[in-house]
Order: sequence, then structure tokens, then C-alpha cells
Amino acid sequence: MKMIIDTDPGIDDAMAIFYAHAAPDIDLVGLTTMFGNVHVTQATRNAHFLLDMLELDIPVAEGAAQPYAIDDFEPSAHVHGPEGFGHVVDISSDRTPHHESAAEFLVRMAREHKGELVIAAVAPLTNIADAIRLDPEFGRNVAKIVVMGGAVDCAGNVTAHAEANIFHDPHAAEEVFASNCNLVLVGLDVTLQTLCSEGDFEEMARHAPKTGGFLKQIGAFYLDFYRSVEQHDGCGLHDSTAVIACTHPELFTLEEAAIEVVLDGTSIGNTVRQPGKAQNMITVCTDVDADRVNDLFLSRVCRNG
Ligand code: BDR
Ligand code: CA
Repeated sequence: MKMIIDTDPGIDDAMAIFYAHAAPDIDLVGLTTMFGNVHVTQATRNAHFLLDMLELDIPVAEGAAQPYAIDDFEPSAHVHGPEGFGHVVDISSDRTPHHESAAEFLVRMAREHKGELVIAAVAPLTNIADAIRLDPEFGRNVAKIVVMGGAVDCAGNVTAHAEANIFHDPHAAEEVFASNCNLVLVGLDVTLQTLCSEGDFEEMARHAPKTGGFLKQIGAFYLDFYRSVEQHDGCGLHDSTAVIACTHPELFTLEEAAIEVVLDGTSIGNTVRQPGKAQNMITVCTDVDADRVNDLFLSRVCRNG
């Protein structure tokens, strides 16, 4: 499967990118970056750094620096660290960003690989909304967009109502949900079931000292955050779960539902069911075979050297 990951790396983004590289059923053809866990320039640098580590030569197209309508965006340094990779702050790469913007790259790749390209959108949805604005055919060209975002039947992780990726640009998310794209929503409903434990990070480091060792190093910060706020003994495998949903939908319970995004007030960023509505119909993951997702993730990342 040809895949682009739209990402804001970010600790769990790094895990998802390493997983996609290790997965024999994924042909990772590029990354698009944006604000979210970090500022966009940090996201692009971090993406390049990860590709250096993987010795993988694919384009990184830089995208949105700000949300559409919210002016107080702050990166999630308390969750992902000041530079996006926990306590690791010495991050550099000699690579330069691709000449097209994220939206231009997404639009062109969707055209060139019509009906084939899958996008794992694991950051705020601004780049995807930009691509839809740029090309009315984008939704028909792209095969599927699997979004890590939302909290449909559960609480949020930024506020009681909102999940981070939707919260950071609710207006872009609403545009994407209302578009003609084939969308699958992988929200906290499932990604807080697929936890990655300290023992899992140790296993990755043992089997794949370079990449798994790096994930263990940055994962320690993420685990501490989860312990501090949620008493989970493990961190959400958020973005990797969305990548796995691209290739293994059979591991998820899927439901067609109309989902709207709340655009103001205290529940801004909430993803709310609208029963009986014909618009905003998307595929929502309501449950997951968490053991099989975790096994798949670990077994593949552990083989990645
Ligand atoms: C999502 O928000 C980001 O912090 C993570 O990388 C993930 O994409 C989880 O809510
Ligand atoms: Ca992310």
C-alpha cells in the first residue's frame, strides 16, 4: 500500500514512522509535516532526523504553521518534550525540505497514484484541509485518509471533550469531515486501548538497538507523562494504531456515523455523533483487538534493526 504520513513528530509519530518503514505491506512514499506537538520547523527537522536514522530517502514536504482560526496555538512540550523527542534535544539533519508544500505534494501524489494512495493523518488536519481547498478532485483521487483524532464515545485528552489533533485545529477538522474524502477515524476510543508499556520499549531496544533504542529513550518521557495524568501503565500507541488501521481494518470494529466537530465554547474540538444526519458520514473505529495491534507493532518494529 502506498502511504504518506502527515505528521507532527512527536514521540508516537516517531513510533508510527518506524513501524511504517518496517511494515512489508506499506510503501512509505513521503512525509508531510505541520504544527502540533511542536512548531512546523521542528516537525520537519525531526522528520528528517528520523529518516536519517532509517537511512530512508523520501521527500518531506513542509505544511501548515498555524491553525485556521485559533490564534493561541502552543506546542505540547509537556507531552513530547521541548523539541518533540522527550529529553533528547540534540536533533539535527543536513536534509532540506521538499520543494512543494505539504498540500501541493499531497494533491500531486493523489493525482499520480489515483485510487491507490492512502494518507495516515496523525496530526491536526490543516494540511489535509489545505489539499482539499487546493484541488476539488483530491477527495476522489486519494484512496483513503485514516485520521488519528477525536474522542467519539470517550473523554478527550486535552480537555474533557477534545482530543489533541482535533483540538489544535477544529475548523480544519470540520472541513475535512464535511468533504468527499473516504475517511476513517481512529480516535482515543481505540488508541487508549493499544498501550505501549515500559517492557515493550525494553523489548524494542533489545531487538533493534538503533531504532528501538531511540524509541526507548524518547518513550521514557511519554510514559512519565501518561503516568502523571492518567495512571496508565503505558502510553497510547495513537499514531501507530492509525497506520495499522490503514492495512489491517479487520482488527477494528467499524461503524458509519455522521460526526461533527464543535467549533466554539467549552467543548471546542469535541467530535460529536449526529444521528440521522446525511452529511459528515465517516467510518469510525469504535473498538479494537488491542492485543493483535500491539503484537503486530512490536514484532515489526523489533525486526527493524
Ligand atoms: C495525538 O496527539 C498528538 O499528541 C499525538 O502525536 C497523537 O497524534 C494523540 O491525541
Ligand atoms: Ca501525532
